[in-house]
Amino acid sequence: IPVDPFDLVIFGGTGDLARRKILPGLFRRFCAGQMPKDARVIGAARGDMSSAEYREFVAEAVAEFGGEGACEDGTLDGFLERMEFVTIDARGDTGWTDLVTLMRDDVVRAFYFSVGPSLFGDLAERLTKHGLTDADSRIVVEKPFGRDLDTAQALNRDLAKHFDERQIYRIDHYLGKETVQNLMAVRFGNMLFEPLWNSQYVDHIQITVAETVGVGGRGEYYDKSGAMRDMVQNHLMQLLCLIAMEPPSKFDPDAVRDEKLKVIRALDAVVPHHIVRGQYEAEGGDPSYREAVGDARSRTESYIAMKVGISNWRWAGTPFYLRTGKRLKARSSEIVVVFKELNHSIFGEAGEHRNELSIRLQPNEGITLGVTIKEPGPGGMRLMNVPLDMSFAEALGPDGADQTDAYERLIMDVIRGNQTLFMRGDEVEAAWAWTDPIIHGWEARGDVPKTYDAGSEGPVDAVQLLARDTRVWRKVT
Ligand code: BG6
Repeated sequence: IPVDPFDLVIFGGTGDLARRKILPGLFRRFCAGQMPKDARVIGAARGDMSSAEYREFVAEAVAEFGGEGACEDGTLDGFLERMEFVTIDARGDTGWTDLVTLMRDDVVRAFYFSVGPSLFGDLAERLTKHGLTDADSRIVVEKPFGRDLDTAQALNRDLAKHFDERQIYRIDHYLGKETVQNLMAVRFGNMLFEPLWNSQYVDHIQITVAETVGVGGRGEYYDKSGAMRDMVQNHLMQLLCLIAMEPPSKFDPDAVRDEKLKVIRALDAVVPHHIVRGQYEAEGGDPSYREAVGDARSRTESYIAMKVGISNWRWAGTPFYLRTGKRLKARSSEIVVVFKELNHSIFGEAGEHRNELSIRLQPNEGITLGVTIKEPGPGGMRLMNVPLDMSFAEALGPDGADQTDAYERLIMDVIRGNQTLFMRGDEVEAAWAWTDPIIHGWEARGDVPKTYDAGSEGPVDAVQLLARDTRVWRKVT
């Protein structure tokens, strides 16, 4: 079903995100018939380029990142016809009247700020100054949304001068992932899990986002951020919220975001010995972290593991172990809910198995529930643990397993005006308020990250973090 006709302006329209994600994503939505035929996409950037040249740029982006077999022949031309380009200076006056001339009335107007946060305020100001927005216009802003509480508050203030909160779409692309949304479906669409979803029955929860890639060409940005700012403050925090939040009264943007906010506000401060920071070493011909960022003394972490507590009625006493890192053994994102042991096993020691529910976010999206059964055969009442395994691709078939990329889903939500999968300003601020003291602590102590081998499961200290609590991480495979 097509969304309403729209004009989408992408500031940073020739940037990396536009090339890799936004434009190919829009193309896939066009092929799927969801982007209306009269929708328009206007790339805006500082460099000189004609609309014809921009169409070539878009065609190349689609060829490189558009995905396999997306579309019928000839559709690309139809898509490219929807593209325009304006040269614009975010901090000056160049190009703004051209944009005014291009924009149509009576369609949804959306402005994607795919640029650094230092330009958010300037763009917001010029959009209103040139009369480009009305009460129904939307702006989309990318992470990083600030680098600490002060900068995030300043950004929120700058945007609030020109836009209402209901017009601001702060992207965390993890919320657009199919399986991440499935966390809510699994929790609140089944009778089975929710009664057990608390510290009485759950021993602990592990959240892992492991990547095989290094910092690549993003060293300059990454070295100022580190895994804490780049991944934990946003993506892992969102996963934690969806796993830990109370059931919202309905699937409605503010009902969901109110509950997530309560989780963030209930997070305990993290003590230093509950955190392990790591930095990867060189491997084969691949550079070490420090070589990749060009600073032989960098103290930025490319890995982090931490033990987090939530002080509320549901979760007090159940630790959440979070870890994420680059150049690890495998690309694997997974949430594992480890249930407690039985109060009493009628089978004696043989019965000491635990149930584990693992939700695989990527790759091989699916859900596995470990259950205890009798070992087959005449050998007596010996028990074993077997997986009840559901892979989305297998269960739903290759067409059923939705391949929609997070960005394309989220952009369509912007046009539909649905903010459920976007972060609210107070949520982002609360996340920084929790993260700031941790980062300040490292800076004050001159904390040096542990090294780990590229291609490994991370620093050994992370193993010890759980071993101290007589627990073990799930293998990253
Ligand atoms: C981005 C981070 O937000 O998420 C990157 O800046 C990271 O460092 C990426 O690699 C991971 O996203 P995905 O979708 O590949 O898991």
